[in-house]
Amino acid sequence: MTFAELWAELLPVGRDEFTGGYRRYSWTTADAACRAWFARTATQLGLRTDCDRNGNLWAWWGRPGGMQAVVTGSHLDSVPDGGAYDGPLGVVSAFAAVSQLRSDGFRPARPIGVAAFTEEEGARFGVACLGSRLLTGAITPEAASALRDGDGVALADAMAAAGRDASGIGPDEDLLAGIGAFVELHIEQGKALADLGAVIGVADGIWPHGRWRFDFAGRADHAGTTRLADRQDPMLPYAATVLAARTSAERCGALATFAKVVAEPGAANAISSRVQAWLDARAPDEATLDLLVSQVSTAAAAAAGQHGVAVRQHRESVTPPVSFDRGLRDRLAAVLAAAGIAAPLVPTGAGHDAGVLAARIPAGMLFVRNPSGVSHSPAEHAEMADCETGVAALAAVLADLAAQ
Ligand code: GLV
Ligand code: MN
Ligand code: MN
Repeated sequence: MTFAELWAELLPVGRDEFTGGYRRYSWTTADAACRAWFARTATQLGLRTDCDRNGNLWAWWGRPGGMQAVVTGSHLDSVPDGGAYDGPLGVVSAFAAVSQLRSDGFRPARPIGVAAFTEEEGARFGVACLGSRLLTGAITPEAASALRDGDGVALADAMAAAGRDASGIGPDEDLLAGIGAFVELHIEQGKALADLGAVIGVADGIWPHGRWRFDFAGRADHAGTTRLADRQDPMLPYAATVLAARTSAERCGALATFAKVVAEPGAANAISSRVQAWLDARAPDEATLDLLVSQVSTAAAAAAGQHGVAVRQHRESVTPPVSFDRGLRDRLAAVLAAAGIAAPLVPTGAGHDAGVLAARIPAGMLFVRNPSGVSHSPAEHAEMADCETGVAALAAVLADLAAQ
């Protein structure tokens, strides 16, 4: 099975016909279709499939548990109106690489696994990399059970509606103990490779990052009759907080984004009673991230006080800095060099399951060139020839890691 064949099959799943973007949220119909594609593809390749207690998918070439397995893969879920490549490129490339190794007659000395982690984007339940966090214990089952989606549906109920029992969610030490290395291939979400004229990169590390929800509570009232001085409008401190975040990020050499905001009741002619807004903050180190978030909090509290509005802040997920396993990173670079693929080291501000897994097992990443650098958008793109080079690179890496 070639990359192009596998890619073409998955491409229509969960794509919105008007925006061209993907809406593959965990435990929805689109997610079920992605899972069915995963199972079908694995079966066609002669791999044994499994869904772990946390809803992550696995396809095995060889029996896990004895020799430490080499696992590759990524995620199939998307941000709202996301691109086709963020996540699926890693899963499709993993299957294509296995297919190539099989037709080359390669016989792995260790099991090879293909994984698709659930809710990597946190688009439904708010916590990024939820599946790998649960697997590794980076989030407790209690904290995950308390999560609700935008409609108030609990994680356990969403899983039950999709036919999965959530009573066993939580760390899976046996599964982790059977994995010797995890390598995630991903589209690059910036232009470093394009600027360097390279097709493939090896990940260096990931900036610390996280999400914080701000709840501004004011008082609903009539937009046409309430004097400005009498208002408790939560939109005003929200707006001030957005601007403060931008200024702080510029000062700190960091990134701060407010992109998701919900105003209630959401009438054009009524002052809002409540504004909920999510800060996505990322910085080169933890001290800078803490400074940035505390500056935004201070600005939010000051602006709220000025407008008679109450503000509460809730930390939804935070990921510490990731420095990928040096030994694995150097080995990936050496294998690619031997295969004639120049692969520079690339840092990233984007979060990944490999970053969560890196806290427990040796993990690494390969990036595939993205000509425009655009990601989390329907405009995200990688050239087919570059994707095929990605498959060749991944196949070379798997062959090396699983050879002994
Ligand atoms: C994942 O794509 C993230 O960095 O938000
Ligand atoms: Mn993403
Ligand atoms: Mn991703």
